Amino acid sequence: MIKTFLDVQKLSITLKTHNSQTHLGSNISFDIQEREVFGLVGESGCGKTLTALSIMRILPQNISSEGKVLFHGNDLFSLSEEEIRKIRGKDISMIFQEPMTSLNPVLTIGTQIAETLMTHLNISKKEALKRAVELLDAVRIPSSGPRIKDYPHQLSGGMRQRVMIAMAIACSPSLLIADEPTTALDVTIQAEILNLLQELRHQSNMAMLFITHDLSIISQQSDRVGIMYAGRIVELAPTEDLFYNPAHPYTQGLLASLPSQRGVALKPILGLVPHPANLPRGCKFTDRCKAMLKECHDKEPELLEISEKHFVRCIKCH
Ligand SMILES: Nc1ncnc2c1ncn2[C@@H]1O[C@H](COP(=O)(O)OP(=O)(O)OP(=O)(O)O)[C@@H](O)[C@H]1O
Ligand code: SF4
Ligand SMILES: [Mg+2]
Repeated sequence: MIKTFLDVQKLSITLKTHNSQTHLGSNISFDIQEREVFGLVGESGCGKTLTALSIMRILPQNISSEGKVLFHGNDLFSLSEEEIRKIRGKDISMIFQEPMTSLNPVLTIGTQIAETLMTHLNISKKEALKRAVELLDAVRIPSSGPRIKDYPHQLSGGMRQRVMIAMAIACSPSLLIADEPTTALDVTIQAEILNLLQELRHQSNMAMLFITHDLSIISQQSDRVGIMYAGRIVELAPTEDLFYNPAHPYTQGLLASLPSQRGVALKPILGLVPHPANLPRGCKFTDRCKAMLKECHDKEPELLEISEKHFVRCIKCH
């Protein structure tokens, strides 16, 4: 039997406080094939980052996740802490949403990249520093030799993001999780970083989980897309199919709200993503859905296949 590269099955994510439990994610299932780029898209607070942190097993202490995350058939949730540490940063690595919080301000970037290498590969510090210079070259940081002695605050936002990418690809992972890798950057730098990620992906054949709130970025970056809303996947399809035949009213709303070519936002989706502690009954999109029916309040729709490889969580599409 062929083992799926990454298979996330029925992931649920729960916030526990001393007297309550809040579900932040529910029934999240998707897979990623070798060398595939899978885009995870949704508005702020939909659960994209927590899904990624669950896969990496680095959730904050008060949040836990259940379900299965099979990587080459092995459930990452059943590995010991030591076993998952060997995979994290080596086979699966992540570019975090906040580059400044994930770089250590008191260590030079060379030392930080070298430490990642020495943790996973059996090499000396001298070799690791040499490799760090090569990695800075690979992410197009000019004057890479002297630059390895720089501290994060000496770099621009775009350069810091390149360092984060260099650290993430240091051990040639087969899966790279990129969480909003360009959100904090201006448009020109954004395009450069996206091109760099595409190039690196082709050179190294790695798969990617690409997280963004921006559907327009996804159209150029990913092979398949999962749309998240209120901690659920509500639509999942090959990218082209999703753009030409969006089926879920939320996806249709996201597409309609994309800026036109003249930069004018067309029709934003009215309202806000509901707070996880206060989700509507039945379908979680009811309070913002223009197509809502009375039955939508009764039962949460399942994610069902409506055409080949195209899944939707909406009773109107079933
Ligand atoms: N440490 C935490 N403690 C409590 N609630 C949290 C914590 N982290 C996230 N949440 C809540 O979980 C939900 C999902 O958060 P998550 O960060 O995964 O969203 P996101 O889709 O990545 O959003 P964004 O686009 O803003 O990054 C949100 O309602 C958020 O407020
Ligand atoms: S199930 Fe109903 S409320 Fe939910 S997206 Fe479909 S039509 Fe809208
Ligand atoms: Mg996030």
